Amino acid sequence: MKPIVRPGVADLVPYPPGKPIEELERELGISGSIKLASNENPLGPSPKALEAIKDNLHALNRYPDGSGYYLKTRLSRHYGIPLERIILGNGSNELIELAVRAFLSEGDDAVQHFPAFLVYEKVVTGAGGHMISVPISDFRIDLQELGQALTPRTRIVFITNPNNPTGSVLSKEALAAFLKEVPDDVIVLLDEAYIEFVTDPAAARGLDLFDAHPLLFVVRTFSKLYGLAGLRIGYGFGSADVIDYMNRVRQPFNVNSLAQAAAIGALDDEEFVSDTLRIVKEGLDYLCARLVEMGLDAVPTQTNFFLIRVPHGGKRVYRAMLKEGVIIRAMDGYGLPDYIRINAGLPEENERFIKALKKVLADLSAAGD
Ligand SMILES: Cc1ncc(COP(=O)(O)O)c(C=O)c1O
Repeated sequence: MKPIVRPGVADLVPYPPGKPIEELERELGISGSIKLASNENPLGPSPKALEAIKDNLHALNRYPDGSGYYLKTRLSRHYGIPLERIILGNGSNELIELAVRAFLSEGDDAVQHFPAFLVYEKVVTGAGGHMISVPISDFRIDLQELGQALTPRTRIVFITNPNNPTGSVLSKEALAAFLKEVPDDVIVLLDEAYIEFVTDPAAARGLDLFDAHPLLFVVRTFSKLYGLAGLRIGYGFGSADVIDYMNRVRQPFNVNSLAQAAAIGALDDEEFVSDTLRIVKEGLDYLCARLVEMGLDAVPTQTNFFLIRVPHGGKRVYRAMLKEGVIIRAMDGYGLPDYIRINAGLPEENERFIKALKKVLADLSAAGD
């Protein structure tokens, strides 16, 4: 007997299934592979976060602080935002889900640019909503087209800045002008998962834009810069009302105690933050220079990852790279079948990627593929 599912759920495609690296290695008969596929921090977790975790292990018999008081207080100080305008999530993924659960009813519309982070559409469709996707233009989000896609039933607009997978940023001027045009009762979820990597001084930052739109909800994460992807912790800033409604639909203990402690440690870890920014910049510079030498196009980025146009199709290159022990992301699921995406790794990982890519492209050309 098949279960009866909510409208939209049967049409969902599961998130691209992955296997643990160890399992892939066993299947392929290789070892020592590297992963540049998920925009993670190549340095590992923040050491101060690890210390904080150790200091809190003894209290694992207790439920976490459901209000996230200490972390929110720390974030409040760090960003100058009052406590009641901050929410914590089990990764920023959960905050995306909570926003949809709180503000989108079955049959409502949401608007996103495409390609975008695949989770937005998944969550909206799973909630019985309808996602309107506006194609990007020349790897940039087209705000004018996005604005024109809004319908009277649109409850949420998703914008990623900098964007994943393109790495492009919107200017503060352009985003402020867009936000002012969005009807006041529509939530604008601004996903800033990679904002800390941005170097362009003209780039938009959500914290400067609350005056432009009353229902701006800014989402951030500890998964990237702070190296805590495995702990699942993100945070969001919005109006006190937006945060209040989202708090009503979340589980009382949605963020575990080690994640809360680690995030406080990571925010204090200035050395780790500057080391990460340096290693990412050096990695991107190295990779782009080598790719240009190879005659490949790398899409300019303001993040820790970037798109590369490859001959033979992204999926084929992905499969061949896997056999070389280099895990990258094929972009066919994002409507970019000729592209792969990688994040900057450690110097030796970047070198290995380039070496493997040269071999793979030569092999595919020789095979006439
Ligand atoms: C645009 C974007 N938003 C959110 C996330 C997820 O972050 P978290 O690990 O905080 O759920 C990612 C992770 O890849 C991302 O690329």
